[in-house]
Amino acid sequence: MSDPRPIGLFDSGVGGTSIWKEIHQLLPFEQSIYLADSRNAPYGIKPQNEIISLSVKNTEKLLEMECKLIIVACNTATTNAIKVLRNTYDVPFIGIEPAIKPAALQSTNKAIGILATKGTLSSELFTRTSELYTQDINVIEVVGTGLVELIESGKKESDEIKLLLKNLLSPMIEQKIDYLVLGCSHYPYLIPVLKELLPSNVKIIDSGEAVARQTKAVLLKEGLLNTSQELKFRPKFYTNTDTEVLKELIQAKKYDLQVEFLDF
Ligand code: DGL
Repeated sequence: MSDPRPIGLFDSGVGGTSIWKEIHQLLPFEQSIYLADSRNAPYGIKPQNEIISLSVKNTEKLLEMECKLIIVACNTATTNAIKVLRNTYDVPFIGIEPAIKPAALQSTNKAIGILATKGTLSSELFTRTSELYTQDINVIEVVGTGLVELIESGKKESDEIKLLLKNLLSPMIEQKIDYLVLGCSHYPYLIPVLKELLPSNVKIIDSGEAVARQTKAVLLKEGLLNTSQELKFRPKFYTNTDTEVLKELIQAKKYDLQVEFLDF
């Protein structure tokens, strides 16, 4: 059996496209629909009940578009809302969480940095995972205040963001981390700048690839994979603000990707 229905992804904005890229690479025959809720970004400073309502709104829109599986391409929405989503809807949900486990297991210095939103770092799900894997590790958690806003306004390589990152990273560098975990789907877009600012021995990890692998496994297990080997779909990207930043970030022109405004 082959299921041609699309995979749906949502994020508080443009950041989750870093996850979409991994999905598209691993599962090129799947149709996908991406919702960027940029009008409501950032989620990371909002109370949990608001993050849940926004996640429900995005989910309902994707279900209206007949998505067979939903990827919550946002750490903040995953850590605060995925439990409610799974209890409310029948489709499978894949979430994204900071990759603490591999960082903690591989750190030689026994010191890792985690850059994420306030909403993620203060969530019960994150706290539980962190406690489980970092007993003997010095974990330096830093809230990436202001980063999402700058990325959303197309300033991912600006002097402003470099200065901000320099300050955010300094406690991590002082405590000699050898792994930096990117706990927000917007942050992979900062990797070039992060590499400039971090000592060369620090490895940067995010969860995009793991999410793609997990998505494939769930599609297979649930019989939801599109087994057709024809590249007949075009992914669809919708944003509820101006389309320019999103277009630029995914290089829409170069790859002929369709980006549209949608009031959701
Ligand atoms: N991409 C979201 C995440 O992964 C950003 C959260 C926000 O909007 O503050 O957490």
